[in-house]
Amino acid sequence: MNHKMRKSIIIFGVNGQVGHSLVLALHSYTNIIPISRKNVDISDIDKLSILLNNFDIIPDLIINASAYTAVDKAEKEIDLCNIINNKSVEIMALYCKNKNIPFIHYSTDYVFDGDNSNYTEIDIPNPLNIYGKTKLLGEQAIQEINPTHFIFRTSWVYDFGRTNFLSAMLKLSQSKDEIKVVNDQFGTPTWSMTIANITAYIINSYIFTKKHDQIKDYSGIYNLVSEGDTNWCDYAKKIFEYANINIKVVGIPSLEYPMPAKRPKYSILNVEKIKKTFNIDIPMWEDALKCCLYAYN
Ligand SMILES: NC(=O)c1ccc[n+]([C@@H]2O[C@H](COP(=O)([O-])OP(=O)(O)OC[C@H]3O[C@@H](n4cnc5c(N)ncnc54)[C@H](OP(=O)(O)O)[C@@H]3O)[C@@H](O)[C@H]2O)c1
Repeated sequence: MNHKMRKSIIIFGVNGQVGHSLVLALHSYTNIIPISRKNVDISDIDKLSILLNNFDIIPDLIINASAYTAVDKAEKEIDLCNIINNKSVEIMALYCKNKNIPFIHYSTDYVFDGDNSNYTEIDIPNPLNIYGKTKLLGEQAIQEINPTHFIFRTSWVYDFGRTNFLSAMLKLSQSKDEIKVVNDQFGTPTWSMTIANITAYIINSYIFTKKHDQIKDYSGIYNLVSEGDTNWCDYAKKIFEYANINIKVVGIPSLEYPMPAKRPKYSILNVEKIKKTFNIDIPMWEDALKCCLYAYN
């Protein structure tokens, strides 16, 4: 592929888990315009609009991997969380609609209340916390504005060496012989590289190879998580098994570990739609975790 043929992608949130993995997954074949907090604070809607409208080029695609992800803090910072997860998303979607380019955005299993253990894309959301509510509003804003869009709902995202459950467990194991972990909340841990590689595959094999009208036929919400499911306690046990750490993990009910934000009990996302639509396989969460630890640990 010569340089002139390379498509340009603006990625918001390149310092985050998914944003960073997207840069790794996409840089070989595309021209990435990375945007982080250093370039713009997306909670300043006016500055975001100015930034978008002042690019020298019109990109071929925008990916938004930025978000307000501090689930517990969000219960107090409601307005800020709403601006970042909803209002700024609306601005990005409008820009994409006006420029007639596709928009990729990420959302969450926390749009659901967790009464079901196998959510498909047509199930009705009912978020339990502020983070989930604002993420749902962001999804709805995109759908209303209706650029050609791909909303990938994911869950329990981790990457090595970042602020997440995996790092918290590895850190705790350095100072403790026994760890208590909640065992009555179920979901699917998903490595940010899995999300990024599948996103890159869809971009390179569909979005950038088909005509705009054809891509529009693929528009919509897709669950994008690893295969399989677990609870936080069994997830912790797997982390220690794969990292060769000898430590006792004791399961406790979530009632014994109260958090400011309510979390869904069963928020397992069904991945049949993305697998069938794009003809792909998705790794089991245990295999992805093993690979992540193998790659970085
Ligand atoms: N993490 C999870 O467990 C999880 C679960 C389900 C869905 N998701 C969704 O997956 C997507 C990616 O999540 P992630 O885990 O990669 O999140 P992350 O690691 O928290 O990254 C979010 C990024 O957004 C940036 N950001 C936040 N506020 C900003 C602001 N005001 N201005 C500019 N940038 C700002 C952050 O910048 P700084 O680095 O400068 O703070 C960070 O780089 C999000 O849509 C999230 O809702 C995540």
